[in-house]
Amino acid sequence: MENNQAKNHYSGIAGKTVMVTGAAAGIGFCLSKAFAEQGAKVFMIDLNQTALTEATDALKDYCVQGYAANVTDDDAVRAAFDACKNSFGLVEVLFNNAGISLNKRSLEITMSEWRRCVDINLSSLFLCSQEAAKHMQQQGHGVIINTASIWGLSTSAERTAYCTTKAGVVSMTKCLAAEWGKLGIRVLAIGPGYTRTALVEKLQQQNTLDVTDLERRTPLGRLAEPEEIAELALFLASDAARFMTGQTYLIDGGWEANGFQ
Ligand SMILES: NC(=O)c1ccc[n+]([C@@H]2O[C@H](COP(=O)([O-])OP(=O)(O)OC[C@H]3O[C@@H](n4cnc5c(N)ncnc54)[C@H](O)[C@@H]3O)[C@@H](O)[C@H]2O)c1
Repeated sequence: MENNQAKNHYSGIAGKTVMVTGAAAGIGFCLSKAFAEQGAKVFMIDLNQTALTEATDALKDYCVQGYAANVTDDDAVRAAFDACKNSFGLVEVLFNNAGISLNKRSLEITMSEWRRCVDINLSSLFLCSQEAAKHMQQQGHGVIINTASIWGLSTSAERTAYCTTKAGVVSMTKCLAAEWGKLGIRVLAIGPGYTRTALVEKLQQQNTLDVTDLERRTPLGRLAEPEEIAELALFLASDAARFMTGQTYLIDGGWEANGFQ
């Protein structure tokens, strides 16, 4: 998809220090690119060093820096915030985007798979938010945006771990918004519908996702493009959304409104 819309101007983004987790691919890469195009300094964190190098190479004309870290590792995350501060300054916008899928029968999920899903999809967001809030309270402003999912507000069989962690993200977004508003920090979440990324490709390969059926039951008749998710993120992080906090915004082509059919 041509990314013309993401090149619109969003006030309050240029010059900001933006940290993105899971930044090497998919939605995180598109978020990083969109913010870099708006003139932000983008600190890109990902577990996958090879993909991260490719991603930062692709954005070499912009102010970006890659940093390899696992967002579930407390020490690595704290070191990443220090590195970001040294390179670009205190974090002003945090995208808690890293996440994994887990579509499996609940009777077959091992505790190690469950813990990994909770660690990556939920606990790491709390850890990064806490570190970001330490930066943001010093400045008296900041925005934290969490990548939740349509599955944070809906439920289904064989998605217990994913739905539970994403519902946790929706709740954490509200709790932190309530607590940190007085510090000048807005906390929001985005709930994408199925979006064309490696995560969806993997589900297709595993035969746990029927894209044709998904397109049929989505009122707008297709999956989302990651650039469209980035467009919403730009708006939520911009000055135009200055009175918005605590909510999760679905971007799903009407999928949730249509119910299960
Ligand atoms: N693609 C979709 O349909 C969809 C829909 C709703 C929500 N989401 C959510 O959007 C987010 C991004 O999804 P995507 O589709 O772009 O995924 P993706 O698999 O394409 O990319 C995720 C990136 O996160 C990185 N990552 C994974 N675990 C990490 C860790 N522990 N530490 C650091 N980096 C890590 C991966 O290396 C990868 O580069 C996830 O939170 C996902 O749950 C995706």
